[in-house]
Amino acid sequence: MPDSASGTADSHSPAAPAAVRHLLGLEGASGERIHRWLDDAEAFLSSDGAAVAAEEARPLRGRRVANLFLEDSTRTRVSFEAAAVNLGAEVVNLSGKGSSVSKGESLLDTARTVAAMGVDAVVVRSGASGGPRQVARHLGVPVVNAGDGRHEHPTQGLLDLLALRRALGELRGRTIGIVGDVANSRVARSDVHGLVAVGATPLLIGPPTLVPCELEGLAGRGGPLERSHDFDAVLPRLDAVVMLRVQRERQAGGAIASDYARAFRLDRRRLESMPEHAVVLHPGPANRGFEIEPEVADDPTRSLVVAQVRLGVAVRMAVLSALLGPS
Ligand code: NCD
Repeated sequence: MPDSASGTADSHSPAAPAAVRHLLGLEGASGERIHRWLDDAEAFLSSDGAAVAAEEARPLRGRRVANLFLEDSTRTRVSFEAAAVNLGAEVVNLSGKGSSVSKGESLLDTARTVAAMGVDAVVVRSGASGGPRQVARHLGVPVVNAGDGRHEHPTQGLLDLLALRRALGELRGRTIGIVGDVANSRVARSDVHGLVAVGATPLLIGPPTLVPCELEGLAGRGGPLERSHDFDAVLPRLDAVVMLRVQRERQAGGAIASDYARAFRLDRRRLESMPEHAVVLHPGPANRGFEIEPEVADDPTRSLVVAQVRLGVAVRMAVLSALLGPS
């Protein structure tokens, strides 16, 4: 998978040198490839897990990265910016509001315009599934998907896997609950592809409206993937839970019943029903008190929420340096 507008970048493929490399999704990535991304991210971390700048080398000095965020973002946008700056690159930021996108200009025309001004890579967040892939087809520079519609959010998937690998060690054979609005979540899709690739079992948990049976196809043919509509029943089997926000901006509001929070909120009682080693993730932004109780989100030993944000910078450093660095 060298390239490409068709999937996950692989800088180590023999076919890669001539091709422009992109990271568009984790679907189709091998477990080996995913562990290499995580190892590369580890190389940017200090022993306490805080991201560190590539002080000596600044391998992307003189390069320019454009952040094209046509959907709102706090963590991902700042994280990509911090990653690029840590590597010595310059960053150009563009959002939907305040740009000609608000006058109706398309994502592709926007990306082409920005690229024509001289950028070496484009990070794209778009409300349209497939938006970054379309940009990748037409631009001669690496494209990184920073979240497209309900489709994928590969760097979030990688940082979730890194947080899980650091907390649990071996991921093969682990059962990871993904809880809530799975149907509308690009994070869930990237997590599922990544978890299946490394030999873990994703267990999708939520009401039938948000965890419909069609999602079983996500793991690909034969991939281990389970579903449950009964959170309490599966808690003792979970090595970790990824809690998701209900994505009202994607019309998920109508799909939730009035007892949703009672049935699927992660509170202290549910945390204590999980094995002692089990950890809690949330990609943010969290609706505290709705899908997760504040005391669980802030639990100093079980919650990885802050660690996820820190690790995200290192993951994005790994991705940007692999796509922009020497083949
Ligand atoms: C997520 C996203 O935008 O997909 N957040 C993130 O990138 N950290 C999840 C969400 O918006 O709920």
